Amino acid sequence: MKNKNTVRIAITKGRIEKYAVDIFQESGIDCQELINKGRKLIFHDSVNNIDFVLVKAIDVLTYVDHGVVDIGIVGKDVLLEQNKNYYEVLDLKMGKCKFAIAALPDTNLNEGYNRKKIATKYPNVARNYFRGKGQDVEIIKIEGSVELAPILGLSDAILDIVETGNTLKENGLVILEEVCDISARVVVNIASMKLKREEILNIISMLQNSVTVKENLIAG
Ligand code: PRP
Repeated sequence: MKNKNTVRIAITKGRIEKYAVDIFQESGIDCQELINKGRKLIFHDSVNNIDFVLVKAIDVLTYVDHGVVDIGIVGKDVLLEQNKNYYEVLDLKMGKCKFAIAALPDTNLNEGYNRKKIATKYPNVARNYFRGKGQDVEIIKIEGSVELAPILGLSDAILDIVETGNTLKENGLVILEEVCDISARVVVNIASMKLKREEILNIISMLQNSVTVKENLIAG
């Protein structure tokens, strides 16, 4: 069971979860329980004294910030959107995708005098991006199926995550501008880095080795 040296890791449910489980497995950490998890959300690995918890992307940094988990595996998209305290220690170089501005074909965001409307799940990212370009836009926050916004006339464009590009394509949208690359990151609670330094550095080093092995395999 959990003791004071147990390291608790929050993994983002969904796409990142799959990549994270792969990389933990390759690091030599047995994730069979996680793979066959059913509806369970918390798992203990007694060999390595790790607790794994599965949480929604938007909640990972909340758990890390409050110190109830020591490590979070979360997309850079979430780190860019949320203003929280943590150490970002490793790029897992998986779950690669990008933030992009997309719209119906022939949309020109630089044309006309009206303030353009941008729908997104990531209002802070959108605000920072357009502010950086010196462009005044109206940001409309929505929670999902963002691609619908320009189709239904809610916005001129969207800022969203593009991975394969299939969602844009199937909904008749095109990329206007690429904003930045995204991948899964490892973050650590600031106090945990002091209190459980050895255990945490050991886990980071195992993950780093797996990332390097994967990179070398890809490089051939
Ligand atoms: C994300 C994103 C896009 C889609 C992009 O949505 O918001 O809709 O993935 O992926 P693609 O380029 O591979 O098609 P997600 O699946 O996370 O669901 P959501 O609509 O709830 O945001």
